[in-house]
Amino acid sequence: MNSKNELIEERLPKHLAIIMDGNGRWAKEKGKLRVFGHEHGVKTVRLITEKCAEIGIKYLTLYAFSTENWKRPKIEVETLMRLLVSSLKRELPLLHKNDIKLNAIGNIESLPARALKELNEVIAKTAENKTMTLTLALSYGAREEIKNAVQCISAKVKNNIISLESIDETIINNHLYTRNLPDVDLLIRTSGEHRISNFLLWQIAYAELYFIDVFWPDFSEQHLLEAIKNYQHRERRFGKTSEQLN
Ligand code: FPP
Repeated sequence: MNSKNELIEERLPKHLAIIMDGNGRWAKEKGKLRVFGHEHGVKTVRLITEKCAEIGIKYLTLYAFSTENWKRPKIEVETLMRLLVSSLKRELPLLHKNDIKLNAIGNIESLPARALKELNEVIAKTAENKTMTLTLALSYGAREEIKNAVQCISAKVKNNIISLESIDETIINNHLYTRNLPDVDLLIRTSGEHRISNFLLWQIAYAELYFIDVFWPDFSEQHLLEAIKNYQHRERRFGKTSEQLN
């Protein structure tokens, strides 16, 4: 049994990102529709968000809807958008109680008007919260994010706002959706798939990856603590040798 007290406070991941995968297969295993899996996935979002804030994670980023997810059956896309709206409406007290600030990354303008309105309202209402930043990746694709950054930087060079020589990692970083977030320290993917699926490609350059063979609706506090404990025992060398670190 893992306990929160076993974690080493100074070695907590500052930024935890999660690819919440397996809702559909979880439902299928139970002979239910995929939508049922997403509904239970929302409960896990609530649980894990609250636990992360309690543990002391400063930034939690959840892959909720990718640019590719628009290609899913219309009924599934509509359900996910409906769940987004209802969750945003319902979870404002939870966000305030845990002092969590909501943030969103992705092409959020492409969301249905109702979802965008609700999202912007909750973002505005929680803007002063400080304990944790919860970022929802919605209509998010890392390649699109990088393409947009390249276009924007190129336009600035063309218009003599910045020089070609001045382009460095900081400038690129400042043109990503995640400009206000630190790099990802730990990336968890549920469901047993070992893929990144176009998520935060730039930001995970030095992240520790953790794959777990549990569908997202079954991902529990115990699984979260196990992942963080595992992370805390890894040596992050950032290209250096062990000797240099010690
Ligand atoms: C992956 O499972 C999950 C998603 C595409 C969406 C994640 C969404 C939620 C957890 C619910 C809505 C979120 C919020 C923030 C309200 P999958 O459908 O790809 O599962 P499968 O790989 O088994 O088919």
